[in-house]
Amino acid sequence: MIGCGYVGLVTGACLAEIGHEVVCTDNDEAKIRTLQAGQLPIYEPHLDQVVERARAQKRLSFTSDVHEAIRSGDAIFICVGTPPLENGDADLSAIDRVAKWIATESRSPKLVVEKSTVPVQTGQQLKRALAVYGRNGGATFQVASNPEFLREGTAVGDFLHPDRIVIGVENKTAEEKLREIYRPILEKRFHCPVHTKGCPSSDPPPFVVTTINSAELIKHASNSFLALKISYANALADLCEKLDANVEEVTRAMGLDPRIGPQFLRAGLGFGGFCFPKDIQAFIRLAERAGVDFALLKEAEGINKRRIAQFLEKARRVLWVLKEKKVGILGLAFKPNTDDIRFAPAIDMIRQLLAEGAHVSAYDPEAVEKTRAVYPKIHYGADAYEVAKDSDAVFVVTEWPEFRALDWKRIHGLMARPLVFDGRNLLDAAEMKRLGFEYHSVGRPD
Ligand code: UDX
Repeated sequence: MIGCGYVGLVTGACLAEIGHEVVCTDNDEAKIRTLQAGQLPIYEPHLDQVVERARAQKRLSFTSDVHEAIRSGDAIFICVGTPPLENGDADLSAIDRVAKWIATESRSPKLVVEKSTVPVQTGQQLKRALAVYGRNGGATFQVASNPEFLREGTAVGDFLHPDRIVIGVENKTAEEKLREIYRPILEKRFHCPVHTKGCPSSDPPPFVVTTINSAELIKHASNSFLALKISYANALADLCEKLDANVEEVTRAMGLDPRIGPQFLRAGLGFGGFCFPKDIQAFIRLAERAGVDFALLKEAEGINKRRIAQFLEKARRVLWVLKEKKVGILGLAFKPNTDDIRFAPAIDMIRQLLAEGAHVSAYDPEAVEKTRAVYPKIHYGADAYEVAKDSDAVFVVTEWPEFRALDWKRIHGLMARPLVFDGRNLLDAAEMKRLGFEYHSVGRPD
């Protein structure tokens, strides 16, 4: 496993959990030291149990010696980051660097598996790079694509109970090798830390075998489609606000049609995180390069980019002037059950609030430390109540379930002005009104 970021760590730990011997490496030595010391550099439910068990059973180890990791494996999973470049393209330099290491260090045949999200045809380039960099060595390489569909916050469950396993291969040998790797999941032979009282019964996940190009495309196409659904719900929410309808009622009824489905139709502040924003951008660029104008995706991206400014405009209409107002932010992570703030709506919202001279106080159950590194000077409350105290408005930015369970009556008493902007439609509008709040949400009648 090369790359101990979120995907590498979950994949490595779960492959060890299902019985394989896994060596993980990363060029970030501090991260490896943290892992060797038995700590995790990210918060992800159940991952600590999986790592601990696998390490105790000597199936999972961490090393900063990339050469040792390469030599130890028959299959090498590349899980390095592919962040966006200025022009929106995915930066593939880390994959290129890893290809060089693999090509020069390998002494035996290797199956090289792309896990990182990459543009279509990266597999072909990878194969060429391995051949060129390894021309003086004796090792042979096969390349495969194995896109991941892990959601942060439920990644361990997603890995062990996938909707589908997709592999893109060039031949039967690579297919069989990957089938062997995933056999415990296909046959449901593993210890599941998520369902302690036994996993719900279900059919084994489909094992989808495609070409490498198709597998690469499946990942971008899936994420972009989900992003499209969210932007559709958000545009619908804008329409509902203008026409005095309720977006939740509309999307609930829409989702009952199995051709549409209920998921990813939650209107709010839009999608964040390290996948959707960059994947949709990379997919648009990919289509452009291929000479296809995927305007549909450009609009979905545009709708998303406008969410925060639009929501703040709503706040401005109520608060009038933002300068010197004391504003509380509930939720910093891009979604609940993670401490990840990359491309999080809260980060953009705080930037815009600070630019207008508001005094920001924030709280998140997991993501405060990571946010502190970006905004060291804002105030961080020990809990939601401290953030609400004396504030002129509270913004709900991440849909952490515990925010729903807060003592809102108490919050009402603490605030300078009992005004709530719920950017995730987390709270019950009628109940908030009953408690005496001025309450505004997204696409629901105020
Ligand atoms: C996503 C994909 O779901 C996963 O399959 C892929 O492997 C990685 O990218 P993730 O980024 O962890 O996973 O989060 P996801 O649950 O998809 O949510 C992405 C963003 O969309 C979050 O900011 C979330 O708040 C937002 N969202 C999601 C909505 O605004 N509305 C919805 O209805 C669903």
